[in-house]
Amino acid sequence: MSSEVVFNLEYLTRLEESARTLESTPQQRSEMMFKAQREVDAYLEQLSLDHPTGWVIPPKETQGQDKLVQPGQYQVQSGPNQVQSGPDRVQSGPYQAQSGPDQVQSGPDWVQSAPDQAQSGPDRVQSGPDQVQSGPDQVQSGPDQVQSGPDQVQSGRGPHETEPLPIQENGVSIDEVLRDFSRIGNEMEREGHPGHMAYVPGNSTAPAAIGDFLAASFNPYSLNVASCRRAVKMQQMIVQWVGRLFGYPSACAGNLTSGGTVATMVAMTTARDHKVPRSKDYSRSVLYLSELTHDGVAKCLSTLGMREAVVRKVPVDDKYRMDVNILRKFIENDVQNNLLPFLVVATTGTTDVGSVDPVPAIRAVATQYNMWLHVDACYGGFFVLCNSAKHLFEGVETADSIAVDPHKGLYAPFGTGLVLVRNGTLLRNSNTRQHGNYMQDQLTNPEDWNPEDLTFEQSAHFRAPRVLLPLQLYGVATFRDALQEKLELAKYLYLRLKGQAHIQVVEPVLSTVLFRIPGVSDNTNRALLREITTDGRFFITTTTVKGVLYLRVIIFCYRTHRQDVDVFINKVKDAVVKMELPEVEFCHAG
Ligand SMILES: Cc1ncc(COP(=O)(O)O)c(C=O)c1O
Repeated sequence: MSSEVVFNLEYLTRLEESARTLESTPQQRSEMMFKAQREVDAYLEQLSLDHPTGWVIPPKETQGQDKLVQPGQYQVQSGPNQVQSGPDRVQSGPYQAQSGPDQVQSGPDWVQSAPDQAQSGPDRVQSGPDQVQSGPDQVQSGPDQVQSGPDQVQSGRGPHETEPLPIQENGVSIDEVLRDFSRIGNEMEREGHPGHMAYVPGNSTAPAAIGDFLAASFNPYSLNVASCRRAVKMQQMIVQWVGRLFGYPSACAGNLTSGGTVATMVAMTTARDHKVPRSKDYSRSVLYLSELTHDGVAKCLSTLGMREAVVRKVPVDDKYRMDVNILRKFIENDVQNNLLPFLVVATTGTTDVGSVDPVPAIRAVATQYNMWLHVDACYGGFFVLCNSAKHLFEGVETADSIAVDPHKGLYAPFGTGLVLVRNGTLLRNSNTRQHGNYMQDQLTNPEDWNPEDLTFEQSAHFRAPRVLLPLQLYGVATFRDALQEKLELAKYLYLRLKGQAHIQVVEPVLSTVLFRIPGVSDNTNRALLREITTDGRFFITTTTVKGVLYLRVIIFCYRTHRQDVDVFINKVKDAVVKMELPEVEFCHAG
């Protein structure tokens, strides 16, 4: 018996020695930090136009490649109708067969189809350019299809030679770990690169990284005041500050989330609980989006247990804004057919175009039909800081909920969204729970609005420092100026491209610019994208809006400045010259 105890003590001593490796000394810590910093510096140096963006450029189209139009054919295809995305196009696009005004008028047939749709889940959206564009062209454009070859090398993304360093029983040196980790810098799309003008690029700042380091080091449980009141206060301060930016009353409540989609999900949960309290009504509940609403919104329905709810995609007008007249017709039709309109989502900054839905008009319709209005401000939201864009957010203060993404407009690292609910009590009601017995000694006060009662999350990352430290250190003005610069650069790019022969360009509302060569095939426009991006210094994508393919440029990275945009403009000019397009007069869109 006693020998067993001695054995166990020896064993424990060994375990203790092993576990002590987790407690690195100050000297070891600074050495690790120093080495990690060196790797970070080496990576950050690559974030300039002297280096590629890391995007793997799609292969040349195997079919219809560089199908530059014949002289004559060009003139036949181009012209004002095609350039302006007006009603003509609405009546002719394939999507319209599924979602346009005709559909509203089709009355009984269309409405009768609702029960069928009810069985098919959120996929059952009514329209969308995606569906229109499912041809072989698109299939060819994904990076996955990239064949190896010189293009891949040029694009800057290195070869994927090895698996990450394996997880082993015994640890290895910090040098080995960092050497392995730093390969990631060559194997990624460099999100903070000034030429990364695709998706909504993520950027991160040094103070945000330090904020994360501090958060992870102190590691408070930040969702309950009993664990760390100050951590909760930091989070609440951010939430209330963002609420004030949009004109929300102090009775609003919210939370930092892992991203915009989760912020949307928390908001939609509150909308569901408030507007559709009985699950038996889920299958007749209707969610209204525009055809440009981010795809993450409809996806939330299944997480909410509302997979069978009906989704209506409302067409957009010639400014790419939700058409409120059609929204109203959709709703009237649904009400007549005993469906339950419960939620409409307006977007202030669509991902594809940067267009802003008419929130006051949508609010009026939502109020009339007792619906919840959610505003998706994930991309555009922080442009509210800019004097020239403030007016675009009129009416947002009347929304029932808002989702924004500090990991977009506040240059926080990925993993930082924010949800706001105008009437905070509704958010709280939606998330209150019976605490586990192991929590029974925890002192709680109903006055304390613990973040864990305002979301479904519990042990979450302490996200506040990554937002707060940069704001405190730089001040709000720095962020305002950086965002205003992006708006100005988008305008500048628009005006410069507008003066460019062969290019049709859509006037930006925020920092996204769409352009194309009108009157030629999609493949020819894809060839233009290849020409522009072939050295990997710029990463842009195409998008399809109202059935028309455009090259899409989003100016969002804080490192992107006028000289970078000038290089981009020259690339467009050179590409057009190289493509030897025939001279033609045409109108500009937007
Ligand atoms: C308008 C809009 N809404 C929602 C999202 C989704 O946000 P997240 O990727 O943070 O979940 C995005 C992302 O680009 C967006 O642009």
